[in-house]
Amino acid sequence: MKDDGWHDVAAAAEIPEDDVMQVTVDGSVLALYRVGDAFYATDDCCTHEEASLSDGYLQDDTIECPRHQGVFHIPTGRAMQAPVTEDLRVYSVRVEGERVWVQV
Ligand code: FES
Repeated sequence: MKDDGWHDVAAAAEIPEDDVMQVTVDGSVLALYRVGDAFYATDDCCTHEEASLSDGYLQDDTIECPRHQGVFHIPTGRAMQAPVTEDLRVYSVRVEGERVWVQV
């Protein structure tokens, strides 16, 4: 961990292209996405009810909640499809060499 809140969370190779995995960072449970060559992070818990978005269905740059099929835009966290109405919190991500870092 660095002082500015950046955490080394995963090897880039751990996340297949167009997939999502759950990571715990400093007590926060996040969903870490790989969309093509780009990496993103959001809160893992859906804003509608208790559901883990890392168990959801990633399509293009959206994630569908596995519980009631609400949809979020991954890069911005924007709630796109009912029943979700509240946006997801998003986190800054950067890749250094083979490692993925998230700022929490
Ligand atoms: S818990 Fe995610 S849409 Fe209901």
